[in-house]
Amino acid sequence: MTTSDSAGSPSETAPAVSGLASAPVGSVPAPVSPLASMAGVAPAQAPSLAGWDLSILAQAMMDVVRDPNAQVFPAAKAGVTPTLSPSSGSEPAIVAGTPGVSPSAAPTKSDVPTQVPGVPATPAAAPSAGAIDALALAEPSADFFRIPLLGEAVPVATSYFLVQTGAPNPDSPSDISLVETKELTPVSPALNRPLRQAGFDPYAVRREFPILNERVHGRRLVWLDNAATTQKPQTVIDRVSYFYAHENSNIHRAAHTLAARATDAYENARATVARFLGASSARNIVFVRGATEAINLVAQAWGAQFVSAGDEIVITHLEHHANIVPWQQLCAKTGARLLVAPVNDRGEVILEAYGKLLCPRTKMVALTQVSNALGTITPAQQMVAMAHAVGACTLVDGAQAVAHFPVNVRALDSDFYVFSGHKIYAPTGIGALYGKPEMLDSMPPWQGGGNMIKDVTFERTTYHPAPARFEAGTGNIADAVGLGAALDWLDNLGHERAAAYEHELLNYATAELSKIPGLTIIGTSPNKAGVISFVLAGHKTEELGSALDREGIAVRSGHHCAQPILRRFGLEATVRASLAPYNVCEDIDTLVAALKRLGSHG
Ligand SMILES: Cc1ncc(COP(=O)(O)O)c(C=O)c1O
Repeated sequence: MTTSDSAGSPSETAPAVSGLASAPVGSVPAPVSPLASMAGVAPAQAPSLAGWDLSILAQAMMDVVRDPNAQVFPAAKAGVTPTLSPSSGSEPAIVAGTPGVSPSAAPTKSDVPTQVPGVPATPAAAPSAGAIDALALAEPSADFFRIPLLGEAVPVATSYFLVQTGAPNPDSPSDISLVETKELTPVSPALNRPLRQAGFDPYAVRREFPILNERVHGRRLVWLDNAATTQKPQTVIDRVSYFYAHENSNIHRAAHTLAARATDAYENARATVARFLGASSARNIVFVRGATEAINLVAQAWGAQFVSAGDEIVITHLEHHANIVPWQQLCAKTGARLLVAPVNDRGEVILEAYGKLLCPRTKMVALTQVSNALGTITPAQQMVAMAHAVGACTLVDGAQAVAHFPVNVRALDSDFYVFSGHKIYAPTGIGALYGKPEMLDSMPPWQGGGNMIKDVTFERTTYHPAPARFEAGTGNIADAVGLGAALDWLDNLGHERAAAYEHELLNYATAELSKIPGLTIIGTSPNKAGVISFVLAGHKTEELGSALDREGIAVRSGHHCAQPILRRFGLEATVRASLAPYNVCEDIDTLVAALKRLGSHG
């Protein structure tokens, strides 16, 4: 993507770009060797830069850096002095080749690079011709952090661990020790048989997650807090490290090699997110901090444009606070009303009651695809269609859905879709907002600053189209790249197979937990993703959470940022065990055994 933050008028001081000293435009910086050597011409033949906008030259250099074969100066490569036209107006005017070649022959590049995510950006490859030798593109040392190619086996990461020797550190607050990678041997093969029959090996998946080898309070870590955040596979950890070791730069705005690498990596990640969601274009994907920020963005930017007093916004009783509070704030600001679709005793949206809330005043229906507190999978596609039938816009909160089953935003047909990277094996602080193009284009920016503008004067500012218009300032570049790697990892694993396995594990866990005397599961829909919320008679949820932690078991206890739905069931808190494809029957057995022990001491 091309942005023009640095475009200056002839009276401005041009920014320093690689090889070009900062100088007033119009007084030619000398020497001009980088450009001359890029163009393959001797200094004496080098074109004059008088009257040129250096930002356009910078962009031209960037194009060459990105693509060694770019036909920026074809005639120059052939030994003909190129003719360069000064910029006029706002349109870049790079005229390549011999005089008389029209500006339409100027190099173009796709906004979205098509490179395979996870693989170092094209500029890391040595240029084929000598045209850009002077840029001395640095090849990363081959073995330092090689990212496995898609489909390539990921090595077991034994070398990442230190074996702790000697006594445990008394200062270590949670007595966490580091141990060598060990394969967990299934202790209940009979129970695991159906899982293996599904053609899925969760033990192989586990080996890709170094943190699962941690010991907590001397016990094997049992991570059952996946709805809060998922753990990260080595390939994601490596991809983020690789970015900082070899690609780190700010994006879009500079003419040097690392900027090209970072921009390519970032935009590749955007294309990966689009592919993962089934979106038609990467332009529909806005990078945000997570689901919370995405919902706030829509509530503020879309809401400011389309919601006024007397309008209605419909949500469901299942929502996370992130899909309640931004709409309440919008209602408070505009005088609109917030209506809530009720749920039945299993924790399912009552469709008939939901339908009765919809009317021409309904401007937005915002619903979760999976409840984080109960695990209920909502009939999102049907609810979106019902909302559209009355002319309402829709937002689907996919924070708890994307990791658990494949999602296709075009089939879902929601106007907006949001999710957080950290719940799908990616780093924290990165997520995505999908918007239909006509929706994103109809919305004003919600934040102002660099990166999102076309042109700024003190009188007025013009903005880029989406997605840049919604990405003011420097984003979370490295973690966006990590998100792309995580989605590739899941694709590679087989999202549907993983979902089928997780479903089997959910059935197993539900059956085993139901056998514990005094334990009540909250949320009993047959349509659930890998979440089991429960209470144990005679035990406070926080005490259960702490007691389980002492046995190495990480579950969440509390209100799960979804107080209204817990209160619907007369509760302020539950214990929540939530699953991922690296969980195994032994994790469930460990949890069940611990709960039985605690229950019997109740
Ligand atoms: C259903 C749902 N929506 C939204 C969020 C908010 O996600 P984040 O805190 O990553 O922005 C969560 C987090 O738990 C969630 O479960």
